Order: sequence, then C-alpha cells, then structure tokens
Amino acid sequence: MADRSCLAIVLAAGEGTRMHSQRPKVLHPIAGRSLLAHVLDAVHAAGVTETAVVIGPGAEPVAEEAKRVLPQAEIFVQAERRGTAHAVLAARDAIARGPREVLVIFGDTPLMRPQTLTRMRAALGDGAAVVVLGFRPRDPTGYGRLVLEGGELVAIREELDASAAERAIGLCNGGVMAFAGNSALAILTQIGGNNRKGEFYLTDAVAIARTMKLKAVAIETEEDDVRGINTKAQLAEAEAALQQRLRKAALDAGVTLVAPETVFLSVDTEFGRDVTVEPYVVFGPGVTVEDNVVIRSFSHLDGAHVGKGTLVGPYGRLRPGARLGENVHIGNFVEIKEAVIEAGAKVNHLAYIGDARLGAGSNFGAGAIVCNYDGVAKHRTDIGKGAFIGSNAALVSPVTIGDGAYVATGSVVTHDVPADALAIARSRQVVKENRAARLRAMKATSKKTGGTGE
Ligand code: UD1
Ligand code: CA
Repeated sequence: MADRSCLAIVLAAGEGTRMHSQRPKVLHPIAGRSLLAHVLDAVHAAGVTETAVVIGPGAEPVAEEAKRVLPQAEIFVQAERRGTAHAVLAARDAIARGPREVLVIFGDTPLMRPQTLTRMRAALGDGAAVVVLGFRPRDPTGYGRLVLEGGELVAIREELDASAAERAIGLCNGGVMAFAGNSALAILTQIGGNNRKGEFYLTDAVAIARTMKLKAVAIETEEDDVRGINTKAQLAEAEAALQQRLRKAALDAGVTLVAPETVFLSVDTEFGRDVTVEPYVVFGPGVTVEDNVVIRSFSHLDGAHVGKGTLVGPYGRLRPGARLGENVHIGNFVEIKEAVIEAGAKVNHLAYIGDARLGAGSNFGAGAIVCNYDGVAKHRTDIGKGAFIGSNAALVSPVTIGDGAYVATGSVVTHDVPADALAIARSRQVVKENRAARLRAMKATSKKTGGTGE
C-alpha cells in the first residue's frame, strides 16, 4: 500500500484582538466545542496521521486544548507573528520528517468538513505539488485572489498587492493549502517578505512552485468550509450555520424537533429512536438521550444521560453527571446534578438533587431538596428504592434513606432513616380554638385607638 502519511499543520497563533476577550480566539466555543477542537476533529476525520499545532508565545491554554482533543498533537511556538508562511515554518521539524503530504489549515475555521480536506489530498494524489482551497465569497474584500491560467493556478494575490483586474476575480483563497511532502520544504523556505505588509505569505508558495516547474491547482468549495472567525458577530454566524447542520442531521436521523430553529445542540449530542424535543431546549456538551424520550420546552441539559422512555421538563435542568434511568419523570423547575435517578423514579416539581442516588420507583416531592453543600464541602445522599420524600423536605447530606422509607412533608432530615421507617423531623402543630377571631378583634380595636396593637 502506498504511504499516505499526512501532516496537518494547524495555525492557531491568532491574536484575536477583535474578539475583545481575555480568552484566546481559537478557544471560543460553538456548539459545545472550541473552534480549535472543531478544526482538529475535521483534520482527524480526514485521516491525517500527524498533527502540528502552531501557537503564539505563552498560549498554554491553546496547547492544553489541542492535547485534550488530540493527545498525539505536537505543539510548536511561533515566537513572532511574521506571516502565515513563517507560522508554518515554526513546525519545520515536523515537515522535515518527510510526510507524504502536508496540509495547512487555520485554527479559526471551525466549519471545515473532513470531506473537503480529503478532496485536497486526492488532488495531491493526481500530481499537484500545491493545492489551494478556493471559494467564491459574496464579498471578496480582504481575501487573496486566485489567478488561474488554463486550469492551473499561477498565483495568489493578496488584496493589498493586487491590480484592479486581479481584484475583480471572484475566486478567493480560503486559506487551506496542501503540499506534496517531497517539495514542501523547498518551496516554503524560498518564501520572502516581498509585499506591502512585509510578511512571509504562505500564498507565495504558488508562484514559487511554478518557477520550480511544479503544478499548482485550486479546488473549489462552499463558503462555510473556510468561514474564518475574527469577531463575535462572525462567531455567532458560525454558531448559527453549525446549528443548522446539527438540526438537519438530527431530523434526518429521525429525531422529532417540533421547532428546530429553537433547539440548540452540541456536536456530540446523541439521540436514540423516537425522541421528541419540544421548542426551546438547549443541549450542552456530553448529552446522550435514549429511545422514546420526550424533552419538553425550556429544558437545559448539560453532561447528562437520559434513559429510555424518560420525560424531562418543561423547565428541566440537567447538569453534568445527571444520569436518568428508564421511565423517569423530571418535571418543571427540577435541577439534577451529579446524581443517579433510577428507573421509574419521579421528581415532578421544584426540586434539587445533587451528589445523590434516588432509588428506583421513589417519589421526590415538590419543593424537596438535597442539601449537598455545607459551605465547605459536598456530601452524598443515598435514597433507597421505593422511598417517599415528602414535599419541602430538606435532606442534609451526608444522609441515607433506606428502601421504602417515608420522609414526612417539611422534615429537615439530618440522621439516617432505616428501610421502611417513617421520619418526621418538624415541630408539632398546635391548634388554639377561637384564637384567630380574638386576635382579629384585638387588632381592630388598637387601629381605632391609634395604639400599636399587640
Ligand atoms: C489569509 C490568506 C488569504 C486568504 C485568507 C482566508 C495569506 C498571506 N493570506 O489572509 O489569501 O484569502 O487568509 O481567510 O496567507 N497566522 C499565524 N501567524 C502569523 C500570521 C497568521 O499563526 O504570523 C495565522 C492566523 O492566526 C490565522 C491565519 O494564520 O489563523 C491567517 O492569518 P491572517 O493574518 O488572518 O491572514 P489573512 O490576511 O486573513
Ligand atoms: Ca484572516
């Protein structure tokens, strides 16, 4: 089999000043993942064998994110920002190892599809030394123009350096380039900073390849693939475009989205069969939903698992570590965090359960809560099968409620309750006959005489 080793170099040294944020640009998320993670996912899915990520000085969080997503990624630092070719050469050692192909991609183009990268690799296989990804933006301002002659690419002209005729070209450089490994370094090291910006332009690779009698070609793709993010407005546009893709994929897979445009998904959201999602639901990262689940309106799920036949919401809030079994009912204004809710359990109204287990078939009453945090540490609560937790009970963790136990309404439970026991932890009710009428009469008199009353 032919060696198809492929090195991807991801340029992530962007300064991101136009985001007006402390956070490095490529770490901003869309659909539950950072921009960089989206790019690394695409690169990985395109069958790349090695990945180099070029970061700016001191961009440790970017390196960490790259390693988290792709542990085998190699990190290179571009010490000074001197242009795209200079950034690529920061990963010179990786190129010098002699991969068969070298792909260069920007870290801020999160909508890049793996199949587009695969098409570029195929064009290298057809004998090109340089492949450029072109697209036709509605507004080409700011992009490098692709100058073609007889089907071959002869140059890329940056807008600042382009003639009026070149500026009229609609086909633009999307930024992604692929190089045949055997000539990549020879081309890249010839790039000089001979342009209006005085930067080392990666785009000069095309003209240099031509002088070396090597072939350069352009392949065309749709704008989304190369949509770069520089501003919060562009971040929001990319989010919208990605949400459209994710909603369509969910619908195509058979999920019922009553109002798709109001449902927000993460790239890793997983659905079983016959799932219904009502309007206005948000899925943060790490959510899996099994068959026959209904997620009702205004629910927010994050890092949660929802078992078969379970009902969530309206206004359900599932936080990381919420694991719901089969046929569970989570009703309105219920928050679950880091807790297992076993099969058939019901938590129907206004409740909080955190760091706990709620046993199968249990009922957790309206307004009841698990007090898992004492201001310093979190503690666990364990509630057995078939237990009944009365309304407005407060279970002060750590505490264990046995199978079939019954906690009376309004109880503050600080001690374990054995199986099948009844716990009542509230003051007794006192009834004073006729006292209400006397109280009212007394207050009326004091109002007339201007006194302060009782
Ligand atoms: C670049 C292309 C242009 C193309 C456009 C597509 C060049 C010279 N121009 O222009 O033809 O139409 O992208 O969006 O390549 N970077 C570094 N280090 C540097 C400089 C840049 O890591 O020293 C990274 C940036 O973080 C960014 C990417 O390279 O991710 C592109 O750089 P940028 O300055 O935005 O290039 P453009 O002017 O947009
Ligand atoms: Ca740019």
